[in-house]
Amino acid sequence: MSKNSNYVKIFDTTLRDGEQSPGASMSLSEKIQIAEVFDTMGIDIIEAGFPIASEGDFEAVSEVSKVVKNVQVCGLARAGQKDIDRAGAAVKNAVNPRIHTFIATSPIHMKFKLQMDEDQVLEAINTSVSRARNLVEDVQWSAEDATRTDREFLFKCVETAISSGASTINIPDTVGYTTPEEYYEIIDSLIKNIPSSDKVTFSTHCHNDLGLAVANSLSGVRAGARQIECTMNGIGERAGNAALEELVMSMKVRKDILNYDSNVDTKLFTRASKLVSSVTSFPVQFNKAIVGKNAFAHESGIHQDGMLKNNETYEIMTPESVGLSESTLVMGKHSGRHAFKEKAYELGYALADNQLNDAFYRFKDLADKKKEIFDDDIIAIIDDEFSSSIDQIKLVSLKIQAGTSGPQIADLVLNINNEEKSTICEGSGPVDAIFNSIRNLFPHKADLQLYQVHAVTQGTDAQAEVSVRLHEDGKTVVGRGADTDTLVASARAYIGALNRLIIKREKANPDFIET
Ligand code: KIV
Ligand code: ZN
Repeated sequence: MSKNSNYVKIFDTTLRDGEQSPGASMSLSEKIQIAEVFDTMGIDIIEAGFPIASEGDFEAVSEVSKVVKNVQVCGLARAGQKDIDRAGAAVKNAVNPRIHTFIATSPIHMKFKLQMDEDQVLEAINTSVSRARNLVEDVQWSAEDATRTDREFLFKCVETAISSGASTINIPDTVGYTTPEEYYEIIDSLIKNIPSSDKVTFSTHCHNDLGLAVANSLSGVRAGARQIECTMNGIGERAGNAALEELVMSMKVRKDILNYDSNVDTKLFTRASKLVSSVTSFPVQFNKAIVGKNAFAHESGIHQDGMLKNNETYEIMTPESVGLSESTLVMGKHSGRHAFKEKAYELGYALADNQLNDAFYRFKDLADKKKEIFDDDIIAIIDDEFSSSIDQIKLVSLKIQAGTSGPQIADLVLNINNEEKSTICEGSGPVDAIFNSIRNLFPHKADLQLYQVHAVTQGTDAQAEVSVRLHEDGKTVVGRGADTDTLVASARAYIGALNRLIIKREKANPDFIET
């Protein structure tokens, strides 16, 4: 793609870099669900996983390749033969497959991580890109830690990747270290100094350690990059990646100075954001740009007054443009299944029949207990159902004895792999008694790192949403549970986290060492 074109490809790596966020893990069906939304949204390329990393990743790339209709599917590979072949096998059913291979090029990574010198790295670039090119037409090459790489060496690496057959050159700011001016200068110098730079697309991949990921990516585009790698809600390693919704809305809202085009339907942002948040159990911060709960909320009197007179006084984009619609369908005790399904769809969820039945049952139950049902109540219920539909451990019943006198006791029944098991345990407080009971029925050695409760809506009849974070053997998982009974929500959250841990354990490839 030439620098003259204003079209910027959107490469989404929510399912790969996003899934590498500590605590995030996605099942195959969850990945497929997200991929289908991205497909409809007009994303150009989805990086669906790192096929050598685990069976689960391989399967995800392979299945996503089969189900999506328009979007290109890409699998990540290090520079080794096994990685490349595995990625090639995973994308082989995609309509337009891509292999994305990378190697670190900065002095610190080459010396301490790879223990390779410059010549060895150049040789590895040549063999990996050539091998990938034998498997697929479209090969992307990345210089890991490019922004801390010696510039002359980076030129040589990029030249080698191009001459070996790469058609996209990605320049990651792996550690989120660069600034907009510096990143502009790096991309600009590559385009100006590499003779065949006009034959390839340059790509940005910016991490958010200094909060500059979006600014850096846009700066890279201004310098001539025509692919942006990003994730929904900005999830990803450490502080995350550049947020897809922020990048695309910046280009849309400030077209006067960022005159670039993408194919993305921004009206699907709210839906995609909620889906990713629910699948990963990562809450979206309230004041998050574009998709945060408060992004279009106006609290102060002066702002409200201005908004009533003219929306543009305090809004630079409309809520509708990002898919946030006014809550029109009032849900209550008498709402039927169809209305519930419609509401769920509006909130971003396409429910399968079994999920719909279970969620609808919970909704009815809630409507009996609570006068008004808000969107957030429905989101909380569906999130719970969504994450539990493929679970190995399910809550059957819970009875609690608590209060000022006597022991705090939990009487718990779980369904574990289709077998009901029950126990009664004491604890120092009802939550402790519940968690002890769960540990008793499903022994594990994960540490409880976080237990947090917040009210989904206002009022004493509000649902409580509980988050639980567990850590085991370097793996962190988060579970969320919602219920009008805080203790039931606590049990659900702990069980949710355990189910995610089980997925993570199953997905781990014992032979995979990250270098
Ligand atoms: O941050 C990074 O360098 C990466 C590469 C694998 C592209 O995620
Ligand atoms: Zn990354």
